[in-house]
Amino acid sequence: MRIRRCAFLFVELRERKVFDLERLLKGETGLANIREWFALAPHLENEVRLSIEELKILEGFSPTDWTSHLGSMPADELNTVNQLIEKGILIMEGSGEASRMDAVVRDTHWCGLPAVMHRFTRWHGVNTNEEERRFDEETDQRFLERLGSAPSVVQERTSTDSRQKLPRPAPTSLDRLLSSRATCRNFDNLHALSYEDFASTLYRVFGARAAAEIAPGMPILKRSCPSAGGLHPTEAYLLVQNVNGVGPGLYHYHPIDHALEPLRALDRQVAREHVERLIAGQQHFFDVHVLVVLASRFHRTFWKYRNHAKAYRAVILDAGHLSQTLYLTATELGLGVFVTAAVNEVDIEHAFGLDPLQEGPLAVCGFGVRAEARQELEFGPLGALWPDAKR
Ligand SMILES: Cc1cc2nc3c(=O)[nH]c(=O)nc-3n(C[C@H](O)[C@H](O)[C@H](O)COP(=O)(O)O)c2cc1C
Repeated sequence: MRIRRCAFLFVELRERKVFDLERLLKGETGLANIREWFALAPHLENEVRLSIEELKILEGFSPTDWTSHLGSMPADELNTVNQLIEKGILIMEGSGEASRMDAVVRDTHWCGLPAVMHRFTRWHGVNTNEEERRFDEETDQRFLERLGSAPSVVQERTSTDSRQKLPRPAPTSLDRLLSSRATCRNFDNLHALSYEDFASTLYRVFGARAAAEIAPGMPILKRSCPSAGGLHPTEAYLLVQNVNGVGPGLYHYHPIDHALEPLRALDRQVAREHVERLIAGQQHFFDVHVLVVLASRFHRTFWKYRNHAKAYRAVILDAGHLSQTLYLTATELGLGVFVTAAVNEVDIEHAFGLDPLQEGPLAVCGFGVRAEARQELEFGPLGALWPDAKR
């Protein structure tokens, strides 16, 4: 039996308050602080509580070199080693899920800190309605009392008279497009999105403008937006609700063939339930015609930027570029569009069969036909979208 420590392990000392009757009887607050060590290891789905004895034992294990000399260990220490194997922090060569997932972390070339952030900031079954309701119920004044005023909208570094004023451009069609971009929260559930608009949007945002092998073993794509290292790690997974000629269901978009890969057909009601769950209960998006999950295939970027502190940031930025391209593409077609980071990543992974360390959802976008009347709040610019509304 050979053992080593998992690839990455971050420990956090946390404090929680517990009720303490003895303190209350002594006339104190009745609350005691308990401090505990927690291990955050990205190959594990959940954080793990560690004792001081376990932490001490971990000092003796390397994350790279295997050890097989446990014979001389005292029985109580051997016991602690077994506990750590059970918790998945110590890895027994070739055995169990912890060993498999630890190999994925290493083979995908994750950098430790972003791997922890990625793994432990995912949501499962969260419904944001509750929090929304709290905001809605609070008057503006109470809201401000709690948070204080918002930071200024502009960071001014010099006085007004020392600023060099720049000329504004003569308006072009690009300005009209940029000015009419807005986040849509009112979709029309009575009319289907046309097949042509659906296909054009996917092509313009996610389709390959070119595909080439720049060196043997180095295939690249050219898309309408940039990507770190030209690697384009972002996959588009679709949840179709209401599109002419495409049944409700789950799909993957193939950027070179400009084709849909059907993954699972869903009936309309089940498709809607998926929408609700994936975007954490945000009702204003429920009627959207198509959801697009932006999922990063990490190994594609980390293959080049190995264990690189900036690589995770780069794949998130990639997703942001795709989102803005989708906004502009949909706006030009007169469609509504949105992006959200308030998503249930774990539910998305389950729905599409994604491994969180290999292919992780970073954001969800949606596009479709705008409703005729505005029910939900939008920041429609210049009164162009909803002439009757200030916001
Ligand atoms: C990264 C990111 C996450 C966002 N998440 C949400 C969200 O969870 N729910 C939502 O309704 N809008 C979301 N939005 C949209 C913003 O609320 C919107 O951009 C903002 O209100 C300004 O409106 P505009 O896009 O019409 O200019 C998000 C935007 C970005 C860039």
